[in-house]
Amino acid sequence: MLLQLRNVYKGFGPKEMPAFRPVLEDLSFAVEEGARLGIVGPSGSGKTTLLNLMGALDVPDSGEVIFRGKAISGYRAGELAQFRNRELGFVFQFHHLLPQCTLWENILVPVLPSKRSASAGDKSWAEHLLRKTGIWEQRNQKPSEMSGGECQRAAVVRALINKPRLVLADEPTGALDEENARLLSELLLSLSRDEGITLVVVTHAVELAAKLDAVFHLRHGKLTP
Ligand SMILES: Nc1ncnc2c1ncn2[C@@H]1O[C@H](COP(=O)(O)OP(=O)(O)O)[C@@H](O)[C@H]1O
Ligand SMILES: [Mg+2]
Repeated sequence: MLLQLRNVYKGFGPKEMPAFRPVLEDLSFAVEEGARLGIVGPSGSGKTTLLNLMGALDVPDSGEVIFRGKAISGYRAGELAQFRNRELGFVFQFHHLLPQCTLWENILVPVLPSKRSASAGDKSWAEHLLRKTGIWEQRNQKPSEMSGGECQRAAVVRALINKPRLVLADEPTGALDEENARLLSELLLSLSRDEGITLVVVTHAVELAAKLDAVFHLRHGKLTP
């Protein structure tokens, strides 16, 4: 099992007070290695909260998040940063590329925490991904000189640059037009399949959801098929 959530509770606001808002309640869920799963649910149901817990960007109030048999709560701060950087890739609704950097520089940012500069292997992998996503020609351009669809594809490349085991995508096509949404969905699916990367994607895109292995609904703080 790649990732497990065990009896996870998460809420916001002062504990034991009327203003406390429970979001996830006794949620248990397992993600098998290589699975490509979707999560749907109304706005405010807790999808982003859930993805943040899966990606160790936030911690549950109680319960455990377990990655390959090891509880994430057991990591020290430095280990946690390294774990996120090496094992996980994130794609958000907005690309969050650095505006002052070129596409090429942007996609290599995640390799830098572990080494001083990108290796030859990193660069050839980057080239492979840029060609596959159709933005190799734009590599010396800045995000402001690229279309929204191209920037979002760049965000996918950046998420894959460290060959993560798990990619978490939070409404990755939410800001794209239909044509670019379809293109991005196909890329996420084909890249995850070709590279054997596990994918958990929050999406309302029907076409994307239809091609995933399974789609779960977030309701009343729990995930149900
Ligand atoms: N950092 C936070 N502080 C307070 N409330 C939050 C925070 N993050 C999320 N919430 C609340 O938790 C609920 C679920 O939010 P979210 O996970 O963003 O839902 P979704 O992604 O499904 O739209 C919402 O009511 C939201 O207002
Ligand atoms: Mg959200």
